[in-house]
Amino acid sequence: MNTLETIRSRRSIRKYKKGAVIPKEDLKQILEAAMMAPSACNTRPWEFVVVENQEKLEEIMAVHPYVSMLKTASLAIIVCAKPEVQEGICPGYFPEDCGAATQNILLAAAALGYGTCWCGVYPMEERVNAVRNVIGVESTPFAVVALGVADETPAARGFYDETRVKWL
Ligand SMILES: Cc1cc2nc3c(=O)[nH]c(=O)nc-3n(C[C@H](O)[C@H](O)[C@H](O)COP(=O)(O)O)c2cc1C
Repeated sequence: MNTLETIRSRRSIRKYKKGAVIPKEDLKQILEAAMMAPSACNTRPWEFVVVENQEKLEEIMAVHPYVSMLKTASLAIIVCAKPEVQEGICPGYFPEDCGAATQNILLAAAALGYGTCWCGVYPMEERVNAVRNVIGVESTPFAVVALGVADETPAARGFYDETRVKWL
């Protein structure tokens, strides 16, 4: 699959083959893709927490109402923001930077044949604090990405909408 085909076919997956093992080599490629995302002034204001532990996944489900797909996912990657590394350089860009890293995770995983679902955390303060407590970090949880082998095949969607484009 080339990049455009990957972008066109990616869908959010909410049902996975439970127990599927994701090789560490694949995970490293996915995390490398995240870390290769562009970031403001190349500040890379992020860290990543890979949650494979079933009890921890359940704890995340208990504090976030929209991550029930973690029941069958193999793992979750939590993208966490570190806004402080941008202070005095280019402050405030961390949401864009973490969004780009998150999208790279989705696309790299899709290119390797895995399904994902991006579940928002930041800027919901309550969810940020709750997920932070569960995973034990000082950074700011930005997104929970469920990852696994898809057990559903939603049709490709998304479309070109000329009304969203202004040509100058
Ligand atoms: C910032 C953000 C937050 C999201 N949060 C959730 C979520 O909490 N739970 C969920 O099931 N899907 C979540 N999604 C997935 C969207 O519902 C999904 O991307 C959208 O409906 C389009 O469908 P598609 O990804 O299959 O193209 C989120 C997506 C984004 C970008």
